[in-house]
Amino acid sequence: MGFYLIFLLVLFLAIVFVVIPLVFLVKIWGYVYPFLFWGAIYVPTTKERVGKMVKLLEIKPSQTVVDLGAGDGRLLIALAKEGAKAYGYEINPLLVSKARENIKEAGSDGSAFIYCKSFWRQDLKDFDAVVVFGMKHMMKRLEKKFERELKPGARIVSNYFTLPTWLPAKEEDKIYVYIKK
Ligand SMILES: C[S@@+](CC[C@H](N)C(=O)[O-])C[C@H]1O[C@@H](n2cnc3c(N)ncnc32)[C@H](O)[C@@H]1O
Repeated sequence: MGFYLIFLLVLFLAIVFVVIPLVFLVKIWGYVYPFLFWGAIYVPTTKERVGKMVKLLEIKPSQTVVDLGAGDGRLLIALAKEGAKAYGYEINPLLVSKARENIKEAGSDGSAFIYCKSFWRQDLKDFDAVVVFGMKHMMKRLEKKFERELKPGARIVSNYFTLPTWLPAKEEDKIYVYIKK
């Protein structure tokens, strides 16, 4: 009886002081880490908007496109299906592994690629186009990166968020298209 009570007490303490705080930390970490890496939290683009973004990008076969924060790879797969070479950078290793699985399942593994790396550490000079679903706090820094690194004529499609000083060439349903001068 005494042993049983001690076991229940230890179990209760473990749940209160270990399991609950761990679950809580894992949950809030998902919202904290993107800010540490100057990025957006994970919110997947809906299927409908993926289609619109790809259409607005007006990609030509064999052009190279980069997704800045590629999540589960859905934009990469859609872009690869349009004939692009699609490269994604994603900081969350769980999403990278999910994206690799999805890319393989979609049969896009020869034309869609994802790397577990911060997109801030990737030079964008070789890409013809960019897709991004970011957040307001990162757009100014992103605009400066585009100014420094993108080649003239490169297209940018941004889901929901605008670049602070560039004028969009087109806008549809809060999807903004920019062309690098
Ligand atoms: C709003 S989600 C968009 C995901 C995907 N592009 C889509 O449209 O479904 C933003 C993604 O960017 C990732 N992210 C945040 N900061 C990043 C960084 N510095 N480098 C790479 N990925 C980052 C997040 O983990 C998250 O998966």
